[in-house]
Amino acid sequence: MNIFHGNILFSKNSRELAVYEDSYLVADHGKVEGIYAVLPEQYQGAEITDYGSDVIIPAFSDLHVHASQYVERGLGMDMLLSDWLNQYTFPQESRFADMNYARPIYDAFIDDMIRHGTFHACIFATIHREASSYLIRRMEERGLYGFVGKVNMNTGAPDYLRETVEESLLETERFLDEFKDNKTAKPIITPRFAPTCSEDLMKGLGTLSKKYHAGLQTHLVESRWEAEEAMRRFPGYQCDTEIYERAGLMDNGPVVGAHFIFPSEADIRILNRHGGFAVHCPDATTNIIAGIMGVSALQSQDVRVSLGTDVGGGHSLGLYTQIARSVQLSKLKWFYEPEQNKPIAFPHAFYLATKAGGSVFGNVGSLEKGYVFNALVIDGMADENIPLTPAQTVERFCYIGTTDNIKARYLNGRLIG
Ligand code: GUN
Ligand code: FE
Repeated sequence: MNIFHGNILFSKNSRELAVYEDSYLVADHGKVEGIYAVLPEQYQGAEITDYGSDVIIPAFSDLHVHASQYVERGLGMDMLLSDWLNQYTFPQESRFADMNYARPIYDAFIDDMIRHGTFHACIFATIHREASSYLIRRMEERGLYGFVGKVNMNTGAPDYLRETVEESLLETERFLDEFKDNKTAKPIITPRFAPTCSEDLMKGLGTLSKKYHAGLQTHLVESRWEAEEAMRRFPGYQCDTEIYERAGLMDNGPVVGAHFIFPSEADIRILNRHGGFAVHCPDATTNIIAGIMGVSALQSQDVRVSLGTDVGGGHSLGLYTQIARSVQLSKLKWFYEPEQNKPIAFPHAFYLATKAGGSVFGNVGSLEKGYVFNALVIDGMADENIPLTPAQTVERFCYIGTTDNIKARYLNGRLIG
């Protein structure tokens, strides 16, 4: 049993924050038992961890991030997707064949993700099974929640970062099989995107998806170039998303499509049919993609939207910075395309990064009764001249906060360093 005192804040839904000022949160066996303005009789006399006027919020869920690109953050950001992949990312990712290169980078990535308050993430590794296995093993050992993918690519990339279809399927099956019983960090099938995977590879992955009941993460209609390239390589398909549906990759677990910036009606219909997530990655969108997801337009069509950092397309592991950026970008989108794209408000953006994204992993991303107590304590945003409400504290943290403003981190109910 743990009892915390402070200001407690989480999302009720996409419109409303739940805020409990000067209250007590009781956690039992790592799960939220309840929040009380006055501590009930049965808990009187128990030890209380007092966070005063600090704000206790759910830890963040990053639904699209490349652990293998952690070392290239902030480089090549003046390029567009295809050049950035060929000039920076593919040569860099090829080095994960060497475990002496991979290990310290994946360890540093995990440490830094925790430092930024992200305890739940959908992660791309590289095509290399051994390094991918190291990453998912370390995530599981540290109690982090995730879907981790060994990447598949057999075409449309330099030969130093390409597998044969047979190799790709064999190594993916070994990966899925080895980690199928993981508790919190689970394997997911990860065809990089349509331009780097042939139809026979996609279909083979579909068979593995069924056999291992594994979900799908990929990049989906992320740029005009990608959407056109997908249709050129897959004649007879009506849209990017249909490639995955026809391969049987959308029936057996979560479906997580990064970017989803230029979807046709068919893309939206197919993603919704499988309850898939569209991941908005504000920094990556402005760095290397040059398109803005229409968050409010997609949500009015019932698409499940969430947030991602897309490091190294994005340059910061702080998902909280993407909350601020998604509000900013929604205004630009509205300015240029006012009809369907209303700007989003801060509570909406916070919801995408917590409760919406967290739902992929189970009961994380909220502090309602029954949710896992994966939480952060935010402080240091106060202003001597203007007192801040808890919601203003968190909003300001998302704009000008740093990891120093995360005063404490709780994972599965336990304080972590
Ligand atoms: N599309 C294919 N690969 C990538 C990648 O590594 N990052 C981003 N942002 N888009 C991609
Ligand atoms: Fe990406």
